[in-house]
Amino acid sequence: MFPKEVRIVEVGARDGLQNESSVSTNDKVTLINGLVKAGLNSIEAGAFVSPKWVPQMADTKDVLAQLELSNANFSVLTPNLKGAELALSAGVKEFAIFTAASEAFTKKNINCTIDESIERFAPIMTLAKENNIKVRGYVSCVMGCPYQGEVAISEVLRVTKALLDMGCYEVSLGDTVGVGNAAYTQRLLTALLEYIPADKLAVHFHDTYGQALTNIYVALSLGIATVDSAVAGLGGCPYAQGASGNVATEDLIYLLDGLGIYHGVDLNSVIETAWQISRALNKTPQSKVSLAMQVHD
Ligand code: HMG
Ligand code: MG
Repeated sequence: MFPKEVRIVEVGARDGLQNESSVSTNDKVTLINGLVKAGLNSIEAGAFVSPKWVPQMADTKDVLAQLELSNANFSVLTPNLKGAELALSAGVKEFAIFTAASEAFTKKNINCTIDESIERFAPIMTLAKENNIKVRGYVSCVMGCPYQGEVAISEVLRVTKALLDMGCYEVSLGDTVGVGNAAYTQRLLTALLEYIPADKLAVHFHDTYGQALTNIYVALSLGIATVDSAVAGLGGCPYAQGASGNVATEDLIYLLDGLGIYHGVDLNSVIETAWQISRALNKTPQSKVSLAMQVHD
């Protein structure tokens, strides 16, 4: 059964730009302000991760300092207590912790095992609770891993439950490499929904094989009502070589409009923002809708 309303979590400024070199702080702020103006209310604005690991996110504090933080729900990635403390002092009201259902990916991405990552999250949850901060969880590689290949559905379930049990208000299921397809999406989500209510799950599809929208359609049909996307289809993951960006926000909106599902975002404004950031990156948007409905200044 399709939801009546979908919450779009815009991750372009983090998941997108973590993979791009030389985007100025000003361009990031312009991007995020454009997204807010378009009506996006859940926006991942950056990451307090090690600048040695992901230098593209090193200016997250400066980006946040230039935003009007009351204008939207801004979140940031926090891999450890240090990241969470930095996020707290920057004034964000939502942390995002992230691990994976693949040991090999977890090691490459955050330099520890899955179980160690969950141990590391415990003090983040305590800090969050003390300061009234919401925490979102991510499980990466839910449909396959660039290093170990197959990932067991039972492991996706175990890790997702662990994050929910420790207090995450929802878990976003990441097809980090974008290898999923409709049948596998149906299988995975049906298995998880036996144990976890739909309103605790979000989906996060990278579009490497062009299957993201189809997979989202399946997820929506199963009652999932939170979908991550990135304006202009920006992005990838530095630790998943060859993976392309998230499903484009514009394409997601077009799908939702066709299904009559409310989302509260202005498509033309998102397209304008998509072209603006793409020009700053010297690219064209990775979005069929933005290409079809090009807006010129
Ligand atoms: P480590 O090297 O094991 O950490 O990295 P450490 O604790 O040994 O610290 C080493 C150095 O990093 C120290 O500095 C720390 O202070 C510093 P030094 O003494 O050498 O000068 N450090 C930090 N600096 C700033 N912020 C911090 C921080 N923590 C330590 N938070 C660590 C472990 C987790 C930090 C590292 O592996 C890391 O930052 N990884 C992040 C990788 C990343 O951002 N990946 C991309 C995002 S995940 C993704 O894209 C998937 C997702 O989109 C979902 C999907 O698609 O599936 C979410
Ligand atoms: Mg991602």
